[in-house]
Amino acid sequence: MKYEISWIAILFASLLAAKSTSAIYLSHANLIKSTDDSSFLVTCRDDGGRPVTWSGPRGLLGAKSHPRVDMASYGTSIFFQHVAVKDSGNYTCSSGSEQKTMHLTVKGNLDTSGTQSPKGQLKTPLTFMDTSPNQTGIEFTDVTLRCEVKGGDKPIVTWSYENGGKISDPKFTIIGDGLLIKNVTRNDSRTYICKAMQTSTGDIMEQKIQLKVEHKPSFRHKIWVKTEEAWAFIGGEANLTCEVYAEPPATFQWLWKKQTVQEGFHNTQEGHIQKSVLQIFMKDSSRYGNYVCMAKNKLGTLEKIFSLQPGVQPPPPEYIELRGENSDLLDLGIGEPKITDKIPSAMSPTGYRVQYRPHSDDYWKEKDYERSEANSYPLLNLKHDTDYEVRAATINKAGISDYTNISNFRTLTLQTAAASTTFLTHVIAAFSIIFFFFGALW
Ligand SMILES: *[C@@H]1O[C@H](CO)[C@@H](O)[C@H](O)[C@H]1NC(C)=O
Ligand SMILES: *[C@@H]1O[C@H](CO)[C@@H](O)[C@H](O)[C@H]1NC(C)=O
Ligand SMILES: *[C@@H]1O[C@H](CO)[C@@H](O)[C@H](O)[C@H]1NC(C)=O
Ligand SMILES: *[C@@H]1O[C@H](CO)[C@@H](O)[C@H](O)[C@H]1NC(C)=O
Ligand SMILES: *[C@@H]1O[C@H](CO)[C@@H](O)[C@H](O)[C@H]1NC(C)=O
Ligand SMILES: *[C@@H]1O[C@H](CO)[C@@H](O)[C@H](O)[C@H]1NC(C)=O
Repeated sequence: MKYEISWIAILFASLLAAKSTSAIYLSHANLIKSTDDSSFLVTCRDDGGRPVTWSGPRGLLGAKSHPRVDMASYGTSIFFQHVAVKDSGNYTCSSGSEQKTMHLTVKGNLDTSGTQSPKGQLKTPLTFMDTSPNQTGIEFTDVTLRCEVKGGDKPIVTWSYENGGKISDPKFTIIGDGLLIKNVTRNDSRTYICKAMQTSTGDIMEQKIQLKVEHKPSFRHKIWVKTEEAWAFIGGEANLTCEVYAEPPATFQWLWKKQTVQEGFHNTQEGHIQKSVLQIFMKDSSRYGNYVCMAKNKLGTLEKIFSLQPGVQPPPPEYIELRGENSDLLDLGIGEPKITDKIPSAMSPTGYRVQYRPHSDDYWKEKDYERSEANSYPLLNLKHDTDYEVRAATINKAGISDYTNISNFRTLTLQTAAASTTFLTHVIAAFSIIFFFFGALW
């Protein structure tokens, strides 16, 4: 018993000790601001590392409230942007049973003209020096994002991603005039925010910095071969597609028989991806051979060889049939063409191109499909109660076949579609019951 009592005494003693050493600190107890003032921060920190909460005159504050709660290495802050007179009041930071209060007075801008700012709070405004919003670095080197703050009294500089995300990777270090990024990769190409806080007033200024990490052209797809096989038949065409990632963007050059190809290619850029498509019309067999795509920027060159070989034009599909229809949909079945001995398996169909139009229209719409095991090629978003003309062609690695003769199919009226949907619902219901039954047995 004696031992137990002394144990409890020790526990209490240590709890009291913990309580007396743990305290919360506020960066400011009183602030006087005007509605003209820029944004500012008030920071609260528990030296025991316990989490703190903030509440204001209108209740508990959070990441989406006004002011907004921000977490940073130096504490948990409330961030005011565009203060109004009604924001005046007591803001309390609590941790456990402890709390500290900051009293904020916001004056209308007319009040603060002249000598209103309190003594000792003389402001030297914060400015960013030599801090460009667009900065570049070369991949796999160490890069310093420059952000140099002048003015104020020992301003505190913090960094975050534009979306508010914390920068936590150990490869980032905050240094005197910026953010050092060790061994930068293209994945670090993002927008960063450099935020400077004036310690005495809590005033904040921030600067967005977009980092572009430059790298030599590299292939788009994980599976990449230096030599890609391509096929075409006389009378058809070949589209050779060269796709790379590069920063700064790559320029493309095509070579054929060691000569630069002057025309017939088309370059596009989408985000970081650049694409060049060389279109070759197969007038005769002299067009076969090796074509070289070279993608180049100041950091390097990537080369890809296309070996263009004689292929076989696929035959058109055997037939087109209607598998089902609705008021806005025709589900087609396509009869695979008969493959004769003349066609090597490398030239078997990979898909189909379907062209369709309302009977009265002049222009075909078209849609490409991959070959479907289920033999289902649906045309969607059609007009109800309308006759459609439909034709199809076979696609293989060498190109496209002639089209089939035109087939005519009609979409349903809205009423019949509704009726058949009800039928479908019954079928589905019946299936669910069967599944439910077997489910219960298992
Ligand atoms: C703010 O707190 C002070 C004491 O710290 C108190 O005198 C004052 O009434 C409070 N103001 C409001 C609006 O609650
Ligand atoms: C920074 O880059 C953006 C586009 O990325 C451009 O609109 C802006 O003018 C650039 N700013 C400077 C200062 O170069
Ligand atoms: C930089 O990072 C790349 C991949 O992220 C790695 O392969 C390379 O070894 C690193 N270089 C240095 C100097 O750490
Ligand atoms: C960039 O990120 C992607 C996906 O997260 C990853 O697969 C790739 O290896 C990264 N690249 C570098 C150079 O770190
Ligand atoms: C080649 O590209 C052109 C233009 O994008 C396109 O019209 C044509 O159908 C393509 N040819 C083949 C065989 O894919
Ligand atoms: C297409 O129609 C023509 C004449 O109407 C016919 O001779 C030919 O056999 C048809 N072709 C197919 C693939 O059905």
